[in-house]
Amino acid sequence: STTIKKLYREHESFEDKQVKLSGWIRTLRSSKSFGFIELNDGTFFKNAQIVFDEALSNFKEIEKLPISTSITVEGKVVLTPNAKQPFEIKADNIIVEGTSSSDYPLQKKKHSFEYLRTIAHLRPRSNTFSAVFRVRSLAAFAIHKFFQERGFVYVNSPIITGSDCEGAGQMFRVTTLDLDNLPRTQDGQIDVKEDFFGKTTSLTVSGQLEAEVFALSFRNVYTFGPTFRAENSNTPRHAAEFWMIEPEIAFAELKDDMELAEDMVKYIINYVMENAPEEMEFFNNFIDNTLFDRLNNVVNSEFGHVTYTEAIEILKKSGQQFEYPVEWGIDLQTEHERYLTEKVFKKPVFVTDYPKKIKAFYMRLNDDNKTVAAMDLLVPGVGEIIGGSQREERLDVLERRIKELGMDVKDYWWYLELRKYGGTKHAGFGLGFERMIMYLTGMSNIRDVIPFPRTPGNAEF
Ligand code: 4AD
Ligand code: MG
Repeated sequence: STTIKKLYREHESFEDKQVKLSGWIRTLRSSKSFGFIELNDGTFFKNAQIVFDEALSNFKEIEKLPISTSITVEGKVVLTPNAKQPFEIKADNIIVEGTSSSDYPLQKKKHSFEYLRTIAHLRPRSNTFSAVFRVRSLAAFAIHKFFQERGFVYVNSPIITGSDCEGAGQMFRVTTLDLDNLPRTQDGQIDVKEDFFGKTTSLTVSGQLEAEVFALSFRNVYTFGPTFRAENSNTPRHAAEFWMIEPEIAFAELKDDMELAEDMVKYIINYVMENAPEEMEFFNNFIDNTLFDRLNNVVNSEFGHVTYTEAIEILKKSGQQFEYPVEWGIDLQTEHERYLTEKVFKKPVFVTDYPKKIKAFYMRLNDDNKTVAAMDLLVPGVGEIIGGSQREERLDVLERRIKELGMDVKDYWWYLELRKYGGTKHAGFGLGFERMIMYLTGMSNIRDVIPFPRTPGNAEF
């Protein structure tokens, strides 16, 4: 048996050949003596057209099959150079593998993405989601390929962790306790000190600290795994569970970090454009018709650079009414980020050197003592897709920062030892994988680029 993907890619070599395909009926129409099936076999974004007629012994059964029935077709490939599809298959045998009920929810009419979220178990069968999840898979591969080609070592950072990398208090606690039967003191108070085999643990918000460990022995490393944030934010860009790619490079500064990020983003776009042309065309035609222009612009341009302080000035002078007022010291909100990248730079832009007050403890303090060597990459349509920094490699400065933020140096003893034993300047960043997929596809809600999104009120599947 062959696949629809192979037939599309090599249809000429299949001319008049006998093939066997298994898949699901996407559409079926028939008249008295013949009919057409659009068959999808899961291997390709597009369907194969099957032509069948009365010569089939089970013609009467086949012509009444509901959408989504799974079938196996044997027949001859006929090239159709003037038709929409380059070939069709003239069936001489169709076997029903599994029937479908006529109330199948994905009928031909277009459904809203909101509705499709409620049927996350069926939506991968729709055109849009078939394209999204294929691109997601390819992009993941492209990322591994990019780093592996450059000799980076892939590190698996732990999911369950004892440290809070971002210090933002957004961690999901992990516990072995039976929450319905918590240990109590004699006067009925809850009596819990440690909840995971003698330790307080949570789901990781970032694999960065562990990536730093490995960067200081392998030089160039990256993580690629799930991360978790217990933030109750209902935005199209935040999920409680998302995947992050976190490279970490030793003997490197912020400038090297940004170069790596820019190369990576361009590489992913090029790879996906080249290897998923049908899916990308679909996105450009039906989801966002500025997509190709935008992506072409990205791969052919040099990303912009602006310091946080300059960005604040630009925003203040813009004359734009922002919902959240602009002042030096604020954390840039999505509206500010999008204004900068969409209206001012009209391409991806790195914002650097943020106030230390709004950034994490590990970022390298600049000489002004007010800002840190941080960078965020903002892109049109999405806003922040990358957050990174040069790391504080000076032991005394780092200890001071940790204390300043009210954290306990004891909790970071191993992290501090990296500075004690052969520390060096190093840097890294985190790419939000889902935000990258949104950027690649033009999809505007993070719930629609995750197979089973975890957002407030969304954990059914
Ligand atoms: O900016 P963040 O919080 O940076 C870090 O976690 C660093 N430790 C990364 C590093 O330097 N190694 O997160 C990095 C990226 C963001 O730019 C964003 O794309 C994504 O992760 N992100 C989220 N994506 C979806 N839902 C959320 N709740 C996200 N929070 C962050
Ligand atoms: Mg960030």
